[in-house]
Amino acid sequence: MTPVPPSLGPGIPPRVAGRWPEGPVGSTTDLENLPDDLRVDATEEMRDARIPEVLERLDRELVALREVKARIREIAALLVVDRLRRSIGLQSEPPTLHMCFTGNPGTGKTTVATRMGEILYKLGYIRKGHLVTVTRDDLVGQYVGHTAPKTHEVIKRAMGGVLFIDEAYHVYRVGNERDYGQEVVEMLLQVMENRRQDLVVIMAGYKKEMDRFFSDVPGLSSRIAHHIDFPDYTIGELMEIARQLAERERYRLSPVAEKALEDYLTRRMSQPRFANGRSVRNALDRVRMRQAIRLYEEACLGRQLTKRDLVSLKAEDILKSRVFEGGIYAG
Ligand SMILES: Nc1ncnc2c1ncn2[C@@H]1O[C@H](COP(=O)(O)OP(=O)(O)OP(=O)(O)O)[C@@H](O)[C@H]1O
Ligand SMILES: [Mg+2]
Repeated sequence: MTPVPPSLGPGIPPRVAGRWPEGPVGSTTDLENLPDDLRVDATEEMRDARIPEVLERLDRELVALREVKARIREIAALLVVDRLRRSIGLQSEPPTLHMCFTGNPGTGKTTVATRMGEILYKLGYIRKGHLVTVTRDDLVGQYVGHTAPKTHEVIKRAMGGVLFIDEAYHVYRVGNERDYGQEVVEMLLQVMENRRQDLVVIMAGYKKEMDRFFSDVPGLSSRIAHHIDFPDYTIGELMEIARQLAERERYRLSPVAEKALEDYLTRRMSQPRFANGRSVRNALDRVRMRQAIRLYEEACLGRQLTKRDLVSLKAEDILKSRVFEGGIYAG
């Protein structure tokens, strides 16, 4: 992948006066009717849509995911230039933006999909920017004639935004004749092709299952412009997520507590049902619970609590976890 600059500022041509056109402008300008040195000013337009700000927020609030962020910047750059071109009447087909997010549980797929809706809205690609999350049960009916209206309703709800299909491969399994999933796939293929200016479909799931799904459904993979892989987090990245979460919830982790948490996460990583960022979040929830019990008991014994007590998560709150006794947590 080519390296992408941290902001979209440099390299984008300056603009012609006026606002970005909302949607396609009426008529297409003949390429030869415009002088080649006609100036277009990107900076003001980018400021209006607050693109650098949105990308910086994404960078700040999401730990790691370097390649994912780079792809988002590429998409943003593509759309900015597309709008600039349209602002001087140079029309082309709007780019296809359907995506596929693959990765293990808790690697940030749903979080990034939500952000993507927001970004595509700010860039004027979609009208609303909301995210409709569905799984097989929201799309596939149980009786003949049940599936089409169900899927239609979901598509209608998602119009103008992002339709996020989690574990998309469960929607349809080849060879199962009594499965109505095929109907869903046909409707999706159609809407992905014909309504792509008004709906972005993001399919998510495990990489292996997703690859099988694409080979089972001809024409699906080629309608998806961006295949983005979400890698598992390293222990350092998980700790960074933990620090960020603790800070956001107004807690402090002492250096000893951080060491205990690192120990906890290292053990947890090698256990079944480990779910990356989600396991960090769940672990912190349990640590908060143990801190609360500890403080409650101390208060019952008449101890005067302070602000420091309320914000401090201690190593003992972490070390009481069953993970240190060889136990396994589901989260
Ligand atoms: N890069 C990150 N930075 C900060 N927090 C993160 C990051 N990735 C994941 N998280 C945290 O982990 C939690 C789970 O993330 P998310 O729901 O996006 O994962 P997912 O890939 O959709 O998982 P699943 O496949 O199980 O649906 C989020 O609530 C978020 O707080
Ligand atoms: Mg998810």
